[in-house]
Amino acid sequence: MPGQRITKVATPLPGPRSAALIERWRKAEAETTGFQAPVVWDSARGVVVTDVDGNRYIDWTSGVLVTNLGHCHPRLVQAVRDAVGKLINNYECPSEKRVLAAEALVSHLPEHLDRCFFLTTGSEATEAACRIMKRKTGAFEIVGFYGAFHGRTYAAASVGGLEGPKRRYGPTMPGVIRAPYPYPYRSPVGGGDAGLIDYCMTRLEETVRANSTGALAGVMVEPYLGAAGFIFPPDGYLTELEKWCRQKDILLTLDEVQSSYGRMGKMWAMDWENLTPDLVAIGKGIGNGIPTAAIAARSDVIGVLASGELSSTVGGNPVSSAAVIAILEVMDEEKIADNALRMGKLMKERLEEIKDKSRHLGDVRGRGLVMGLELVEDKKTKEPAAELTRRLIVRCAENGLLIGSVGIFGNVIRVAPPLTINEAEAHESLDIMEKSLLELEK
Ligand SMILES: Cc1ncc(COP(=O)(O)O)c(C=O)c1O
Repeated sequence: MPGQRITKVATPLPGPRSAALIERWRKAEAETTGFQAPVVWDSARGVVVTDVDGNRYIDWTSGVLVTNLGHCHPRLVQAVRDAVGKLINNYECPSEKRVLAAEALVSHLPEHLDRCFFLTTGSEATEAACRIMKRKTGAFEIVGFYGAFHGRTYAAASVGGLEGPKRRYGPTMPGVIRAPYPYPYRSPVGGGDAGLIDYCMTRLEETVRANSTGALAGVMVEPYLGAAGFIFPPDGYLTELEKWCRQKDILLTLDEVQSSYGRMGKMWAMDWENLTPDLVAIGKGIGNGIPTAAIAARSDVIGVLASGELSSTVGGNPVSSAAVIAILEVMDEEKIADNALRMGKLMKERLEEIKDKSRHLGDVRGRGLVMGLELVEDKKTKEPAAELTRRLIVRCAENGLLIGSVGIFGNVIRVAPPLTINEAEAHESLDIMEKSLLELEK
């Protein structure tokens, strides 16, 4: 019915059933997860989540940029149901579903990436990329970036540039050389985007000259820094970085675990600058919650691996393969990336208006349906406002909106709803964000 509210939160949070479950959970499962609103999810459809107390929320998290097609898309649910009753696992053996999934994925990649291999998690994909870069070049040094997140496994955490996955887990993998990634909101130099790109490229060159033993294998980079705070480099930076790799004759891995499958308004982030990375790590949206991931590569690069060198116990199983196929069909038929671009523009415009009304919303950035809202104590000093960020997460949930935070300083709200969000859902959720933020600023 037009005008009817989508969200409804009728209990204080946590509601009674949520509170009881959270208490039991803490006694059974180790408490290692990050800060979240105290809500126990029961079910979800599209962008709407219902908790175990019957409260309804709009979701700006998509899990963590996973359910790009909307929660429980009926085509995906049906495909998985059909597959699971027939064959669940056959390890490395091909199944018809695996063959079709590989063909479908390769046909959606830029032409030069003509092979893929199915794995289970994003970390497994970035880990595999590190191994392949080393095997192909016979060298061992990998350039990574401050603030990068590629996962929590050994090579992934070592190449990443955040303290969380590494601190107290030393020693890390030898051969990682780390360079600065452009952070326009906190640029250390003047000269706008061009000045910042120039600064980062100069520092990269200097750092490599000072630290490399002459055994560079490649570069691993995110199209935007995800976990570090949805930090988007100026247009043209990734093109410069790719050129630099070509000049050095080393490989380039693009970590598209979270930036792909329409998230940035195109199928792949690399489409924005027509990049030609040698390897691409894919995760999250490829399975929309069904655990699957993949590495995409040029055949002459991944072809260096001998038989038996790369496999994964449940990677490419018939159930996740059925999911891969159904998801790509829906992406095409429902023009998911186009909706992300259109709705991203609409939402960004309103978020800019909210920024103008707010004392603490310092920066709104992003493309498509991945945007960061950086909260600061003061717009002049830009001192990070981590405590306010946590309070905003809870207040938004109380008002019917589920959000999460990221950031080196813990002060960036993720705006990453399912890519199927419509105008009514967008406006209602933006109203909640505006109300919640301004309530906290009173
Ligand atoms: C850019 C990027 N790479 C890798 C990973 C690791 O993926 P997973 O948690 O599936 O291992 C993540 C997860 O957030 C990510 O955002």
